[in-house]
Amino acid sequence: MSDDKSTSFYDEVGGHPTFVRLVDAFYRGVAGDEVLKPMYPEDDLGPAAARLTMFLEQYWGGPTTYSQRRGHPRLRMRHVPFHVNPDARDRWLAHMRVAVDELRLSPLHAATLWDYLERTAFAMVNTFEPTGIGPARPHGADGLMIHPDTSEPPASAQATTQQP
Ligand code: HEM
Repeated sequence: MSDDKSTSFYDEVGGHPTFVRLVDAFYRGVAGDEVLKPMYPEDDLGPAAARLTMFLEQYWGGPTTYSQRRGHPRLRMRHVPFHVNPDARDRWLAHMRVAVDELRLSPLHAATLWDYLERTAFAMVNTFEPTGIGPARPHGADGLMIHPDTSEPPASAQATTQQP
């Protein structure tokens, strides 16, 4: 907890251990998912889990390690190499739903987190081709930002800077 008068969402939900639990539970689901698992370039999901943890911590007002190591998030662009169709999105969200529920946050915190995850997952969809159909995308291909970038924190995540 920061000793500031107001705290960030990151602090309110328990900081680093909470985000580690969230992402670990999520990747346990991904590991057993026949559509999502093959999308991950590395067999070991550990490094991907670390990137998602750092990203979410930064987004919700925690340490900015993600940007120090990875640069600007540009999430939609970073997902262009992957076949993110509605099926992949729904699977991603289903694993994330289980993970969020496991945290047993207050209803307001859980709803706030879920609203963001759901909106962002919908924004990541970049194809309506069914899985396994359509041209393969070279890993690292560049893409156009045709939707607003949802990777910037909302003003509400920056509660530390808000005055009553
Ligand atoms: C909608 C379904 C989604 C699918 C199928 C998907 C899939 C992937 C895959 C295959 C990677 C590459 C793994 C890696 O190298 O890290 C990745 C990276 C990543 N994803 Fe997703 N993702 C989805 C949605 C999201 C959402 C909603 C968020 C944020 C809330 C997110 C955040 C990230 C981040 C931060 C990275 C690492 C980017 C980097 O620094 O390289 N993803 N995703």
